[in-house]
Amino acid sequence: MTTHEEPGARSAMQARLEHVRRNVAAAGAASASLGAGAEIAPLPSSDVATVCAIDAASFDAGWSESKYLACAGRREAYVLRVAAPDASHDEPARIGAAFVVTPHDDHVVLARLAVAAEYRRLGLATRAVRWALAFAEARGAARVTLHVREGNAEARALYERLGFSIDARLDGFYGRGSPEAALCLSRRCGAADR
Ligand SMILES: CC(C)(COP(=O)(O)OP(=O)(O)OC[C@H]1O[C@@H](n2cnc3c(N)ncnc32)[C@H](O)[C@@H]1OP(=O)(O)O)[C@@H](O)C(=O)NCCC(=O)NCCS
Repeated sequence: MTTHEEPGARSAMQARLEHVRRNVAAAGAASASLGAGAEIAPLPSSDVATVCAIDAASFDAGWSESKYLACAGRREAYVLRVAAPDASHDEPARIGAAFVVTPHDDHVVLARLAVAAEYRRLGLATRAVRWALAFAEARGAARVTLHVREGNAEARALYERLGFSIDARLDGFYGRGSPEAALCLSRRCGAADR
């Protein structure tokens, strides 16, 4: 809390975070019973601009709307919705996270996993990665693979915690302008969860 925040504002924020945590936990229960998960859905073209904004705030080089539209057209882009704490029953849930899953012969590539800043550290990315593993397994894929910047400690902690391991380190992966290496991570589908 900054010194400028009112005590009331702090408790409102705590109540909001508590609401989101409950919402995420409930969504997890729904996922378990509904398989694909009720709260994760293909990205509709009407939400591409919102997802682009989350993407641009999350990555050095954001994806364009046309890239997301192309992925949405192939049903490879997904959003994770979270009900707003102050929402009425008929208000649509907000987009908390987005990601892209691209099926290949024997594996699925997970990319552009991004959580909106106000929803971070609430388990949304964990939910998305678990969903991607189930998505891959349902398609008969053996593994989920992804690239992560070597210096992205937050994302590396997330994936390590979910059982991903490093397959390779690629210098120059992000182009001449970026000296940082990429790590190729993967996890077997159906492996014991952590
Ligand atoms: C990385 C990112 C996806 C994590 O999303 P998230 O919803 O906040 O992650 P979760 O709440 O599911 O966190 C799961 C675990 O990941 C690790 N983690 C996540 N954020 C972390 C942080 N800021 N610092 C340290 N560890 C972190 C922790 O182990 C965490 O478990 P814990 O909260 O019980 O300690 C999010 O920070 C993000 O969108 N970053 C920018 C985009 C990006 O880097 N995407 C990954 C591309 S490969």
